[in-house]
This record gives sequence, structure tokens and C-alpha cells, in this order.
Amino acid sequence: MSKKAVVLVTRKLPVAVEARLERDYDARFNSEDKLYTSDELVRLAAGADAILPCHTEKLTAEVIERLPDSVRSICSFSVGFDHIDLNAAKARGITVTNTPDVLSDATAEIAMLLLLGAARRAYEGEQEIRLGSWGDWSPTYRLGVQVTGKRLGILGMGRVGQIMAKRARGFDMEIHYYNRSRLPTDLEAGAVYHEHLEQLLPQCDFLSIHCPATPETHHLMNAERIGLLPDGAILVNTARGAIVDDDALIAALCSGKLFAAGLDVFNNEPNIDPRYKALENIFMLPHIGSATRETRDAMGFRALDNLDAIVCGDAPLDRLV
Ligand code: DGY
Repeated sequence: MSKKAVVLVTRKLPVAVEARLERDYDARFNSEDKLYTSDELVRLAAGADAILPCHTEKLTAEVIERLPDSVRSICSFSVGFDHIDLNAAKARGITVTNTPDVLSDATAEIAMLLLLGAARRAYEGEQEIRLGSWGDWSPTYRLGVQVTGKRLGILGMGRVGQIMAKRARGFDMEIHYYNRSRLPTDLEAGAVYHEHLEQLLPQCDFLSIHCPATPETHHLMNAERIGLLPDGAILVNTARGAIVDDDALIAALCSGKLFAAGLDVFNNEPNIDPRYKALENIFMLPHIGSATRETRDAMGFRALDNLDAIVCGDAPLDRLV
């Protein structure tokens, strides 16, 4: 019987995913779900053929350069790959894969929850009930922004963006989008394409961010671009914190330029800018866009499908480099 490939699994994964790893690989599990330091990760990778990380492990160029020669692939349990320096991996001949498609529905669900929660002031209402400060009902009490029939701008019309558009159509929203390239008419499904982000922004009662975090999208939503949104707009981010400039967003939320924001992702998670916590007009969640049982199983299986292919000498479905 041939020797099983050795896989360093950096975080605790769903039971069914770990069972498949146990069956097919010589897996090094992290049963305590401890967040490894870079030094620990490099040390634990000694003799491993592959690493199965999450977005919580920062595989920078410096870390990748220190990985043992045995490591031939990094199969990430994530669609995002901003935590992996692809150039450094490529330079070392390490194959890198991600898990697209399988988390699009779950992420669009959270984007819709944030959009509704931000518009209808869910955080403030929830707090009032929990803290016992709910007073009388009044016609002018806790007025929010109606979602039905409004214009939704989608920044990044990939898989998640397209599902978000579909869900938003259920609220009769008018869909506008900006994407590097225009979608075919059938996928556009009536959405209005804007060739430049600066053309899209003034059309957005709501803006939902669904593009990847890359050097090009870093702080894409800065003060100047937030300024192009209509007064009282609502910004939703389920992609990555790095796409938004915290200073600019916080200033717009404080000044009333933006009515509210719905955020599932932040710069420097989990140690986010403390100013966010003091703002009542944000509906915040702790990076749980893909956190459903079904999706986390599917992400694990997709990462393992990629690993299986690599180990068998086949082309993995989701090869990044
Ligand atoms: C992803 O898959 O990129 C999600 O953000 C969870 O890591």
C-alpha cells in the first residue's frame, strides 16, 4: 500500500471533513483550534506534502519562503486568497487552490441580512429590547430606510454578486453593477452595467461589495468614492475589510453622509478599529458570511477535491497558481 500524503490542517474543520481527511490522508489536525503563529506553522509543516489553511493563516512571502521543501500544495479552505502570497508560492512551485462557488449562497444571505439590518436599524432595536430601554411606540420611533424598490449597486458581479442581485430582486430592487468586464445578457438579467465605478456610485441607494481583496482593490472605497454615493446611502461589505478605508467609512457614518453600514468583514480582524463599536448606525457580524453547516462542509470537501487531484497528479479544479 502506498504511503498516504501528509497534510497539515491548520484549524479545526467540520466533523465530516476531518473524517474524510483521516480516511484518505496522514492528517495533522489542530484539535484545539489554536491560531498558529507563523513560526509554529513553519515548524508543523516539516515533512508535510500539503497545507490546508484558512484565511486566518497569513501565508506571506516571508512564511512561504520558510516552508519546508516537502510542501507541494496549499489547498485553502476559503474562496478568498488575499492571505496567500501567490507570487511567492509560484516562485517555489507550490500549487495553490481555493474554494469558489460553494459559499456564494451563504455569503449572499449574510449580505442581505446586513443590508436589511442596516436599513431597518436592527442593532439599535435589538439593543433596546435587551437592555430594557424600550419605551413607548410612536409614529416617529426608530425610522429606517425602506429597501423595497430601491437601487442596489453591486461592486464585483462574480458568483456572490450575482446571487445577491437575485435575492435583491425579491425586494423589487433595481440592480446596477460595476465589474471588470460586462456580464453576458442572460447573467445580467436586466442589471445595469457601469463601465467605471465612479459612474455606478451615484446610482446606489445601497452598495454591496463583492470583489476580491487585491492590491488593486485595497481601500477602493476611500473618502472620494464614498463621497460619490448619494447622501443617506447604505454600504454593505461581506468581501474583505481591506477594500474599505476605515477612516473614510467612519467619517461618513459620523457625519450622516451614509445612513448606515452593514459589515461582516473588517481590517485587522478580530482587532477591529474600536471606533466602529461606538457607532450605532452599523449592523456588524464577525466574519460569518460562509458560516452555515452546509457551506462549511462543502468548503472542506471542495478543498479536499482539489487536494485529491493534486495528489493524483491531476489538475485541481480551483488552481490559483
Ligand atoms: C472565504 O472563504 O474567503 C471566507 O471569507 C472565509 O474564509
